[in-house]
Amino acid sequence: MNSTNTVWHHATVTRERRNQQNGHKSVVLWFTGLSGSGKSTVCHVVEERLHQQGCSTFVMDGDNVRHGLCGDLDFSDEDRKENIRRIGELSKLFIEAGTIVLAAFISPYRNERKKVRGLMPHGDFIEIHVDCPIEVCESRDIKGLYKRARAGEVKEFTGISSPYEPPEKPELTVNTDRQTLEESVESVTQLLIVRNIIQPI
Ligand code: ADX
Repeated sequence: MNSTNTVWHHATVTRERRNQQNGHKSVVLWFTGLSGSGKSTVCHVVEERLHQQGCSTFVMDGDNVRHGLCGDLDFSDEDRKENIRRIGELSKLFIEAGTIVLAAFISPYRNERKKVRGLMPHGDFIEIHVDCPIEVCESRDIKGLYKRARAGEVKEFTGISSPYEPPEKPELTVNTDRQTLEESVESVTQLLIVRNIIQPI
C-alpha cells in the first residue's frame, strides 16, 4: 500500500556510495526454517565473522523483533504474513543504508518470502534454507516450545499445528543436523564471496 500526500526524498548519499565506502555490497540473507533449526545460531556466527572483517551487518530475528516492532502480532496466518511484510520492508531500508542484513524468521509461507524477494532488486534477496528434520528440532527443544505445543499449550505451532513450506529453489541450503556449525557458516560466507558481495576473507 502506498501512502498518499507524501513525497519521496532522493538522498544524495546513495546506497552505491555507502557500499563503496563500506567495501561490500548490501544484501539480505534471509534464513528460513523451523523453530530450533539453528537460524539464529548460524546468523550470529556469520555476523561475527563479517563484523570482524569490517562489514556493516545487522541481525534481525523473530524473538527480538516480536518484542518491539511486531509486538502486536501473534502466530495466526494473517499475523505471520504481516510480520514478514514488515521485516521485508525493514530489510529493504537497511539495504539502502548499506548493511548486510541477516534475517532469521521461520517465515513459513513460500508466497510471503517471494513477496519480500520481489521488494528488492534482483540479487539482493538471498534465501538460505536452514534445513533440519522436525524430529531433530523437537529433540533439541531449546525453548521447551515443542513440548508445550504437543501438550496443546501453544497453539498454531509451526511444524505441529501450523504449516511450514520449505523453499523450492533457495540460493543455499544448510543442513544443521549433518553439518557442523563451522561448515554451515563457511558455506554462507563462501556464497557471499562467490557473488562478489564481500571480499575473500
Ligand atoms: S514467523 O512464523 O512469523 O516467521 P518468527 O520467526 O517471527 O515466526 O517467530 C518464531 C519464534 O517465536 C520461534 O522461534 C519461537 O521461539 C516463538 N514462537 C512462539 N509461538 C510460536 C508458534 N506458535 N509457532 C512458531 N513459533 C512460535
